[in-house]
Amino acid sequence: MEIIISPDQKQSNITAARLIARQIKENPQSVLGMATGSSPIGMYQELIRMHKEEELDFSQVTTFNLDEYVGLPKTHDQSYYYFMQEKLFNHINIAPANVHIPDGMAADMPAYCAEYEAKIKQAGGIDIQVLGIGSDGHIGFNEPTSSLASRTRIKTLTKQTLEDNSRFFDGDESLVPRHCITMGIGTIMEARMNLLLAFGEGKAKAIADTIEGPITSMVPASILQHHEQAKVFIDEDAASNLKLKDYYKWVYSGKPGWQKDA
Ligand code: GLP
Repeated sequence: MEIIISPDQKQSNITAARLIARQIKENPQSVLGMATGSSPIGMYQELIRMHKEEELDFSQVTTFNLDEYVGLPKTHDQSYYYFMQEKLFNHINIAPANVHIPDGMAADMPAYCAEYEAKIKQAGGIDIQVLGIGSDGHIGFNEPTSSLASRTRIKTLTKQTLEDNSRFFDGDESLVPRHCITMGIGTIMEARMNLLLAFGEGKAKAIADTIEGPITSMVPASILQHHEQAKVFIDEDAASNLKLKDYYKWVYSGKPGWQKDA
């Protein structure tokens, strides 16, 4: 794993966005895995800026989102479909036909999930998967004890996640859907690169467990220790529980310039 600790969130967002921009420039037909939640918003804003000011071209890019709440229509302002349009897709030149977000209203969920997996394969697999992390160490919506080999499927959210996400539902936990569709951990591990963003003290424990703890389904993100290309972008607060924090900074500061953009 590569740990990139920035003094503030803004710097992390810029560095992470540069990495994605480089991927798109190298291969205009790149396949990106997208995430929701507050963590990637700043990076999306930087990508929008690059599109508007530096002509970063998304016209041939394909995207697959990690997850969606079951039972929320696309028009619901807390659906991840709505989130992605508002925070990114409405502001760049992506072709709507190239955007894939799990449909939380699908009639036959198992068939739909299998089809979603097949579409990722048909597209050639994901080049860079963006990830946030839950305070309980979940990635996508793969809650603790999710199979580390899991594929896209329905999951039940934990009480902790319902509580964490109630802030988006007027603080009312009972309004947060109990179920979701999420790419599995096996699906995420097949991405050629994983790029995890985490900010603030609330993520410090999950980040320390992910990077320095044992690999366990109790902390789903810890499986990224097994990924050949996992990059973790964090601020000082999210890094605060890391035992080897100074070492990670020393490693990054010694990287040759040509490797630095990430
Ligand atoms: C939700 C999403 C995750 C996200 C997590 C953290 O549960 N399904 O993909 O990583 O929230 O959210 P935030 O970035 O807002 O802390």
